[in-house]
Amino acid sequence: MLKLGIIGTNWITQQFVEAAAETKRYELVSVYSRKLETAKAFGDKNGATQLFDDLDAFMASDTFDVVYIASPNSLHFEQAKLAIQNHKQIIVEKPAFTNQRQMQEIQTLLADYPDVHLFEAARNIHSTNFKAIQAQVAKMTRIQGASFTYMKYSSRYDAVLAGETPNIFSLKFAGGALQDLGVYTVYDAVTLFGMPEDAAYYPQLIGTQVDGKGTAMLRYPEFDVTLNFGKIANSFSSSEVYGMKDTIVIDDAGELTDIQYHDSEGAVHQLGIKADGNPMVDEANDFADVLENPKDADNQKKYDQWRQLSVNVNKLLFNLRQSGKLEFPDD
Ligand SMILES: NC(=O)c1ccc[n+]([C@@H]2O[C@H](COP(=O)([O-])OP(=O)(O)OC[C@H]3O[C@@H](n4cnc5c(N)ncnc54)[C@H](OP(=O)(O)O)[C@@H]3O)[C@@H](O)[C@H]2O)c1
Repeated sequence: MLKLGIIGTNWITQQFVEAAAETKRYELVSVYSRKLETAKAFGDKNGATQLFDDLDAFMASDTFDVVYIASPNSLHFEQAKLAIQNHKQIIVEKPAFTNQRQMQEIQTLLADYPDVHLFEAARNIHSTNFKAIQAQVAKMTRIQGASFTYMKYSSRYDAVLAGETPNIFSLKFAGGALQDLGVYTVYDAVTLFGMPEDAAYYPQLIGTQVDGKGTAMLRYPEFDVTLNFGKIANSFSSSEVYGMKDTIVIDDAGELTDIQYHDSEGAVHQLGIKADGNPMVDEANDFADVLENPKDADNQKKYDQWRQLSVNVNKLLFNLRQSGKLEFPDD
């Protein structure tokens, strides 16, 4: 059993803890929160007994092996560094780090701690349905482009309209649409097609000076990929991967719950599954495969691919941000 510790006590941590329990491969033991009573409330609800309000003491404790980091984006870097130095295995929420300097420093540090693995929790690419899309793309004779959309109105935008600055809409905490739902669309594109030759981002700024929504264009040698994402409006558009006469239609580029393949003759085939369970179970299982058997050659290969993907996504996110003239204090 992998002993789990968590940072962050919001709904996403609850969802991850439930996914981890569903795999039967993790046991939640330790909870860190800025307030002990919050750690206790989360621990009581989820059966964790080791509670901390001191981050150094949490990381130094030997009560857990794997830490799930779901704090505001700009805090991931220092927390992950501390975790590596304490030989913890790390699952860090997306976006793992906010600029290339941080990513480079983490990769250098990881080289000094070969026993430590760091996974970016890009849940979409670990899903059964994403793997079905990948398999279909590999079979298609030619790709003519793609369009990925993930746009959901955030209740926290109401707070922005009321004059507040919630973390996810703040520059200080490295928020905004690209850093949030945009990450999934960037992961879709980079996992399926690799790194583009050129990329541009056209952000729509909101009162807190982050992007509330935006459109990015990724230019590949033979086709373009459009990314549409946002947190200040709802989109019901499908996402698509274009072949010649054939097309993959995805209900939602972040959730990937219903995928159809329209073949060259016009027949429609369901790909993958109609997904309706906890969307974090697949990634929790993928990470557990590696952590339970890190010396296995297939697991090492998978881990190296995810690590490289995380580095590439970080680079592309940073380039898109520069193109959109979005700067964070940590830059
Ligand atoms: N994979 C997904 O589907 C998904 C969905 C949502 C979010 N996320 C990712 O999860 C991460 C957390 O997002 P979120 O929306 O939950 O963030 P959040 O609500 O702003 O903060 C998450 C947790 O961090 C702690 N925190 C809040 N403000 C803080 C501050 N000023 N200083 C230190 N700690 C603070 C809080 O825990 P305590 O009060 O217990 O200290 C809080 O529960 C982000 O990286 C986001 O991208 C992923």
